[in-house]
Amino acid sequence: MSNYHIKSLEEYFQVYRKSIRNPELFWEEIAEEHFTWRKRWDEIFSYDFKKPEVKWYEGAKLNITENCIDRHLHIRGEKTAIIFEPNNPNEKAKHISYNQLHTRVCKFANVLKDFGVNKGDRVCLYLPMIPELAVAVLACARIGAIHSVVFAGFSAAALSTRINDCDAKIVVTADGGFRGAKTIELKPIVDKALKDCPNVETVLVAKRTMAEVKMKKKRDKWLKPLLSKAYNDCFPELMDAEDPLFILYTSGSTGLPKGMVHTTAGYMVYTGYTFKNVFSYTEDDVYWCTADIGWITGHSYIVYGPLLNGATTVMYEGVPTYPDNGRFWKIIEKHKVNQFYTAPTAIRALAKEKIEFTQKYNLSTLKVLGTVGEPINEEAWHWYNENIGKKKSPIVDTYWQTETGGIMISPIPYVTPTTPTYATLPLPGIQPILMDDQGYEIKGNQVEGKLCIKFPWPAMARTIWGNHKRYKHTYFSTFKNNYFTGDGALRDEVGYYRITGRVDDVIIVSGHNLGTAPIEDAINEHQAVAESAVVGFPHDIKGHALYGFVTLKVMGAGRDHENLREEINQLISDRIGPIAKLNVIQFTNGLPKTRSGKIMRRILRKVASKETTNLGDTSTLLNPEVVQEIIDNAIS
Ligand code: WTA
Repeated sequence: MSNYHIKSLEEYFQVYRKSIRNPELFWEEIAEEHFTWRKRWDEIFSYDFKKPEVKWYEGAKLNITENCIDRHLHIRGEKTAIIFEPNNPNEKAKHISYNQLHTRVCKFANVLKDFGVNKGDRVCLYLPMIPELAVAVLACARIGAIHSVVFAGFSAAALSTRINDCDAKIVVTADGGFRGAKTIELKPIVDKALKDCPNVETVLVAKRTMAEVKMKKKRDKWLKPLLSKAYNDCFPELMDAEDPLFILYTSGSTGLPKGMVHTTAGYMVYTGYTFKNVFSYTEDDVYWCTADIGWITGHSYIVYGPLLNGATTVMYEGVPTYPDNGRFWKIIEKHKVNQFYTAPTAIRALAKEKIEFTQKYNLSTLKVLGTVGEPINEEAWHWYNENIGKKKSPIVDTYWQTETGGIMISPIPYVTPTTPTYATLPLPGIQPILMDDQGYEIKGNQVEGKLCIKFPWPAMARTIWGNHKRYKHTYFSTFKNNYFTGDGALRDEVGYYRITGRVDDVIIVSGHNLGTAPIEDAINEHQAVAESAVVGFPHDIKGHALYGFVTLKVMGAGRDHENLREEINQLISDRIGPIAKLNVIQFTNGLPKTRSGKIMRRILRKVASKETTNLGDTSTLLNPEVVQEIIDNAIS
């Protein structure tokens, strides 16, 4: 029996049982046989969910880039590690071999060192989807610096918050980026952000769009000349197993984004292991994940997971709809993609287009299809299965989170029988449980509850940067001794899990997590606004879209509501980014509140979803009269 690459359902159950009965042995064998260590661990893991404190492979020394690159060089040095597919289909794709990746990462690492970046320092990466981003991520890891990638769609304000939160002194960016027909300026956004970041000393700038940008003397440097001069080898820094590898911010239901901290050894073992199994990757396959490296999916399953397995990973710069709606399928044909991993929102959008787009291209290389980021509805699942997979490629509906580091619940292709909308079974080592509102575990099958994980796994985030208390409060206080995901789930009669959605104030819009509180804060900054509440409602393509209820300081007083809506959305765009803009804004005289002053979001959610026939108990409302007004003026 091979622990590492599960090939049958029987084997899955055996491996799963072993991982639960003897997690030490299970994770020891995987670490030992499939990864390179400079020093062996003293202990496989230890944990205390009360503190909470979790450690994996303590005592070990390693460098993840040695595992992602160096160890492959003598066997597959000339193999393509990264295929870069540019936004413009007429620009040539770039194939970067493992040897070339090694040189590029080493050079980049040496440039960072020249600017005084040391082990443990934070480096903010604000880059478009160009090879420099993957290289920069690995260069940080090479020297033990902690990367904090900020998705290049975030606004200047969101960027400065993230830079200051982790006190990064260096930012890597580009002049701009190409996304579809649009050219996005990035350097000006960085300049604006840095007005609020006095500690940033250096900005390294890659050239992509060739747009003219202002370079601030002493602070700003073009990357290219520095890289060409840099020495092409760099000794990998020896890291402790629990040294932080990166910080990645994710939205919370309240306040500032949470800087999730992932550490080195556990993250490496888990992303390597899950990549191999969930995509059933074999040596000559070409794998493509369409996510942006600015999100966890890109970290774990464009960069680390694939490279740990010596895979060929495609990195696409652009959008699914450029120059037309066939672009994804064209790329699959062009690079003979075997595993394709994308978001339900992209599938839903493309499913609305002419079917000819999918028929024009040869998709016969596909072996595995994946989805991630939000529940996939049945219609989208079937469309994907029939038109892209031609009913031959299993769909892996992968459930996980920024916090979990890697995929938690997912079918294993050609092993686990799939059921549309079900993420199916936990991967080895993962122990999900469902809880009721009283905090008790709901046992048995055909039950529904709040999804928790009762046992540690190697890639779980260890803390929130600078705020361990918040980490404990968010994930370990709702259900004692359990990690709480924030999601609801049901378990069917055979034990398959289906994720039903968030049970907190996080809304997933087009696969992006958005906290309602920061959006409301942005709205409330508008001088005319008294108060606001944002809720999600079902949307055909985005999964969920945002509906804002806004009370003005002076209602109706001759203000142009259309203008106000635009101003509010502009504010949201400035404070967070265009992804957080509201689809619908309804102005109201008041928001339904409980006697203790809490906004009753449940009612607003129902209004936004047009489910107002049964509003549930409203007897505790302080101002029941506003409910009817809100229903009467709801915007469809
Ligand atoms: C949701 C993305 C249903 C879930 C990797 C989770 C999903 C949040 C699925 C994390 C799925 C992710 N089915 N829901 N297959 N995958 N989610 O941090 O609500 O961006 O908590 O990580 O996305 O989003 P995040």
